[in-house]
Amino acid sequence: MITVTATPNIAFIKYWGNRNQELRLPAADSLSMTLDAPTVEVTAEFADTLTIDSFDENGNRRTLKDREIARFGKHLELVQRYLSILDARDAIRQSIAFTIHSNIPPAIGLASSAALFSGVAKAYAELLKEQGLQLSDEQISVIARLGSGSAARSVMGGFVVLKAGQGEDIASAKAIQIAPASHWPLHDIVICPSLKEKEHGSTEGHHLAHTSPHFAERLCQMPRRQQECIDAILQRDFEKLQRVAEEDARNLHLVAQTSTPPLQYLTNATHRILFEITALRESERFPVLYTMDAGPTVHLVCTDDAVKTVKEFAHAQKDCTVFETKVGNGARIKNPVMI
Ligand code: DP6
Repeated sequence: MITVTATPNIAFIKYWGNRNQELRLPAADSLSMTLDAPTVEVTAEFADTLTIDSFDENGNRRTLKDREIARFGKHLELVQRYLSILDARDAIRQSIAFTIHSNIPPAIGLASSAALFSGVAKAYAELLKEQGLQLSDEQISVIARLGSGSAARSVMGGFVVLKAGQGEDIASAKAIQIAPASHWPLHDIVICPSLKEKEHGSTEGHHLAHTSPHFAERLCQMPRRQQECIDAILQRDFEKLQRVAEEDARNLHLVAQTSTPPLQYLTNATHRILFEITALRESERFPVLYTMDAGPTVHLVCTDDAVKTVKEFAHAQKDCTVFETKVGNGARIKNPVMI
């Protein structure tokens, strides 16, 4: 039995749209910062059948929806397919029993599936290690991606790129760390205006991306944005990071809103928070950037210099739940036994 702790990530350059839906092979590269909180704990052991016991932050059992259970089943099937390419088809002879304790509200745009499937992938890797198969972080990121595209990036800490690659090979898209957490101690103050589960998940958004008239243009702009973002991070240039991350976030939501049917993830509360933080930034000139994934949640990423002001701003928002996070180290074994 193995227990792993994993966390979400926040994308500066967003993954949106796939070239292969089943294998979650992205249409373009993306880039994120892995966070240190909130955590998901995944315990896994070999078992005769696939079981998933899931608990929320208060320890109450969550009844999983049929599609959530089906997603684990499909993931296991894809993991087996990947293992057969690695000549390790028999490494998982029967199935796996998972126990999940999550501190992340599901489906609000706080990357709960990224944390979950990076934890699941790391747990698979630890079980496979017991069978004599040692996987690299990049290989573990492939396993994570097969459950949730953005989960590939949460396997590693710090600043991580998901390389889309080319072709239909199951392992052609994988995550690569471009800088560890120690490179740049950024914070992400997360403001959730609503803990109600959103109507449309990102999986649905990826399916619909190509129906937007703005999607082709987005794909043209992605290589430039990705490179600017990599440069901004490597040079620790916050202004450059702010420009490109906000440009990409606005563009993602333009694509979502113009898909057929349209996907409206942002709410009035999101727009109000964005208006207020940009006004405050204008008047007080401090380094903070905003970005939103597929939900109304606003992520305010900032440096040490600005974090006090940003936290005060976040906690002053009425009826919002705030998570104070910073750059983290990625999925890891919980309390490894030291010998
Ligand atoms: C807007 O990884 O959630 O957060 O592969 O269907 O699980 P699935 O999609 P998911 O998509 C993430 C979308 C995003 C942007 C990002 O994190 O890059």
